[in-house]
Amino acid sequence: MKKARVGILGATGMVGQRFVTLLENHPYFEVTVLAASKRNEGVRYEDAVSDRWKIELPIPDYAKDMKLKVVQDVETVSKDVDLVFSAVDMNKEEIIAFEEAYAKHEVVVVSNNSANRWTDDVPMLIPECNADHLAVIEAQKKRLGSKKGFIVVKPNCSIQSYTPALVALKKFKPKRVVVTTYQAISGAGKTFKSWPEMIENVIPYIGGEEEKSEKEPLKVMGHVENGKIVNASEPLITCQCVRVPVVNGHTAAVFVEFEEKPTIEEIRKCFSEYRGLPQELALPHAPKQFIHYMEEEDRPQVKLDVNEDGGMALMIGRLREDSMFDYKFIGLSHNTLRGAAGGGLLSAELLYAKGYLNS
Ligand SMILES: NC(=O)c1ccc[n+]([C@@H]2O[C@H](COP(=O)([O-])OP(=O)(O)OC[C@H]3O[C@@H](n4cnc5c(N)ncnc54)[C@H](OP(=O)(O)O)[C@@H]3O)[C@@H](O)[C@H]2O)c1
Repeated sequence: MKKARVGILGATGMVGQRFVTLLENHPYFEVTVLAASKRNEGVRYEDAVSDRWKIELPIPDYAKDMKLKVVQDVETVSKDVDLVFSAVDMNKEEIIAFEEAYAKHEVVVVSNNSANRWTDDVPMLIPECNADHLAVIEAQKKRLGSKKGFIVVKPNCSIQSYTPALVALKKFKPKRVVVTTYQAISGAGKTFKSWPEMIENVIPYIGGEEEKSEKEPLKVMGHVENGKIVNASEPLITCQCVRVPVVNGHTAAVFVEFEEKPTIEEIRKCFSEYRGLPQELALPHAPKQFIHYMEEEDRPQVKLDVNEDGGMALMIGRLREDSMFDYKFIGLSHNTLRGAAGGGLLSAELLYAKGYLNS
């Protein structure tokens, strides 16, 4: 199959930089456009990011000489792309306006922004968990009046360290969940250099994060009905989100009560056997094993485990019975790989493999 032409909107930002590195020599995609704000119009990519490159890998050669276009120049950018990855820092109304404009210009939009997460005909994808939500795209195209263009979004990075575990255990009907997340500074687009106050510090507040962490899993666990995604009504989730001095990797401490309490062996079997379409289709960025259960009593650890399976796996450990709930466990996922650009890229690979970029 011919490679699809892709653009990165917000290519100079932290998530955009991750897309630039992940897309080097990609088997399905060729990067044809890098775009950022008007401030950087026409600037060489390398010049625009040289003093703010935040990725541990070098700037890929293919990107260095590309001249930046402007995100809002939908007409111009659309001519050169089949799909755009959207990761910009702008207000919600502006984001909804340009993402819909791209879709109406027959471009597929895979968004890392939160603006369209609650639009009920926009799938919020964790590709292993709710690929069936792609069924809503026909209704979205009808609303937008497009033939090929549509929008899918990726959920917030915080929920990826526990939601797939709840999905894997869905048949036991999780009823009540208490979560505390311990979130890396890269989730705020920061490094220790740009956020020195975080060194040796813990900040018990991340604006808007707790609401997202409590509600977004219910959309992921929902179903498609009459051209809309209907959110699940359970489990009831309450969450506290804490910023910790870690560069990459969100950890979650999770307590769960079920309607039909499983055994520990049943839970571990569900985790180890959990597969989704990305594994079946052997997508380039699909982890071979999505949920890893770690036996050691002091794992998963950020330093040792966050990059497992290319930073695309969910690492779980310390599963045990709880005195108030049924069980408790610890989850860990990479927030800028699985939780941001990697998750967006896996969604795009799924769309490509399922033929959504040709229809
Ligand atoms: N960091 C994470 O781990 C993470 C995880 C999940 C989701 N997200 C989401 O992803 C998005 C990007 O996050 P980030 O951390 O990469 O942000 P960032 O590093 O601040 O980058 C922001 C990007 O947006 C562009 N931009 C800013 N204002 C613009 C404007 N008025 N018009 C056009 N482009 C504009 C910037 O271009 P210039 O360089 O030209 O200013 C830059 O490319 C946000 O919505 C964030 O919530 C981030």
